[in-house]
Amino acid sequence: MQIKKIDVHDSAAVAKLYELTEAVHSFDHPDISVRSLRDMTNKWRHPWPGEDGEIWVAISDGRFVGKLELGWPTRENLHFFEFSIEVHPDYRRQGIGTALYDLVEKNASARGRTELVTSTKAQIDGGAPRPGTAAEFLKRLGYKLALTEVTRECAVDTLSRAEEQELYDKALPHASDYDIVSWIGSAPEKLVPSISDLESKILLEVPLGDVDLEAETIDVARFLELEESYRKWEFAQVQTVAVHRDTNTVAANTLFAVPVEPADFAFQMITIVDPAHRGHRLGILCKIANLWQMREHIPRVKKIYTGNADVNSQMISINEQLGYFTVDNDLAFKKVIAQASDTQLSFHQHRYCRAGRKTPARHSHFLTANTVRTTAPAQLQSVPPTASQHRDPPRFPSYESSCRDRDGHVIGVTTHSCPQGCIGEATHQLTLVFVRLSQREGARRKSRGAFRPFSPSVHGECRNPRCVQSMFTRKA
Ligand SMILES: CC(C)(COP(=O)(O)OP(=O)(O)OC[C@H]1O[C@@H](n2cnc3c(N)ncnc32)[C@H](O)[C@@H]1OP(=O)(O)O)[C@@H](O)C(=O)NCCC(=O)NCCS
Repeated sequence: MQIKKIDVHDSAAVAKLYELTEAVHSFDHPDISVRSLRDMTNKWRHPWPGEDGEIWVAISDGRFVGKLELGWPTRENLHFFEFSIEVHPDYRRQGIGTALYDLVEKNASARGRTELVTSTKAQIDGGAPRPGTAAEFLKRLGYKLALTEVTRECAVDTLSRAEEQELYDKALPHASDYDIVSWIGSAPEKLVPSISDLESKILLEVPLGDVDLEAETIDVARFLELEESYRKWEFAQVQTVAVHRDTNTVAANTLFAVPVEPADFAFQMITIVDPAHRGHRLGILCKIANLWQMREHIPRVKKIYTGNADVNSQMISINEQLGYFTVDNDLAFKKVIAQASDTQLSFHQHRYCRAGRKTPARHSHFLTANTVRTTAPAQLQSVPPTASQHRDPPRFPSYESSCRDRDGHVIGVTTHSCPQGCIGEATHQLTLVFVRLSQREGARRKSRGAFRPFSPSVHGECRNPRCVQSMFTRKA
């Protein structure tokens, strides 16, 4: 058996990957609608903004018999690492899952991630059977249950139009200060800043059990990136918000994501009511209005899937009023891997003036240790150059940053020189390395979050061809 990383732009590999995914799906949970090849290809090719990932496969006689999907956030939650292993039903209990899992901890460690999370389906009372093979597999590897989510399903016409209208009319008097606004596609420009603010609250507001996630900062640029991703995935975004009339603030938001044709189902994505605006029945009003517009404009959608933490009683009560029934449990298992004890970081930055003199950098906003030391380029190997890199020696004030471990070995160096003084991507990358490693060490010192990476867009705005940057990491 061979294990290798696949290129998600290789259509032949993606077709085999899909074949495996479908075989697992129809064995493990055949009652749930299957996503099409086109839909899954879009998903594999375009990671969620602010996330990155890899897909590995186990191959036996040319056939894909196991798959490992890895994913990690790149902006917040730099301690976090997600994975999913699926083994073809005919090849289980032969050690393939274990062989793929071996890559999980190695990969997470190499990225400085400490919290490993995966999820698996489990049968509920009276629900369709689920093999539930993963629970034993994961427990044996040291995983513990961290969160139980319940998957629910609802036909779009479970309630009659009159029943829906009655629910809506009953709720409406509580929301006299709000307008319910619906659309399909991109959000109206004037609402984007306010929706972005509300999106930033999602991870603060949804129950996460023992899964340790900090809130994401969704600014306008990031929100627009999310919308762009929906376009790349060919998902229709069916959205309804409640706008507080006096302040023009988006107080509630709900979204259906409808996969590309011929899918006859939609995913109920987030529904959130701002804590400052609760008690006005905004959740149910938005959900009913959203259902109405989906039924009218995308009639091929016949059913909706949603998932909520088992303790999210408010959301569950709304869903039950709308006719959702339980399908199965999604169990999130977690393991915290040891923090590397041999890592102690110091971060050093030099500034070279035009005359080539080296001085400690002054504007090290993101640094804690700022001691100047000499780096040892011989220990380093170059990371592939970025498009903007060129080979001329820098002619502008330039910066060299290095990151060292506890023994003083350099683990990463970046150099950056820009006539416009932009903050370079290479510096950004090293900062990320620093952030990750400092989390391992720094969780104890409660310094997590003290080192914020610069947004890559800071550099993205610099189009100057003389902006020079390079990044080095220690040889393996
Ligand atoms: C869970 C899964 C990945 C395991 O893959 P696998 O290749 O069969 O796993 P392995 O052969 O490496 O099993 C290792 C050990 O896990 C435990 N295990 C695996 N499947 C089990 C089962 N059905 N019942 C009880 N224990 C099981 C056993 O201890 C096994 O060792 P053993 O065979 O020597 O007794 C596979 O069943 C699967 O694809 N399930 C559906 C997908 C899923 O839920 N994935 C989520 C987990 S990330």
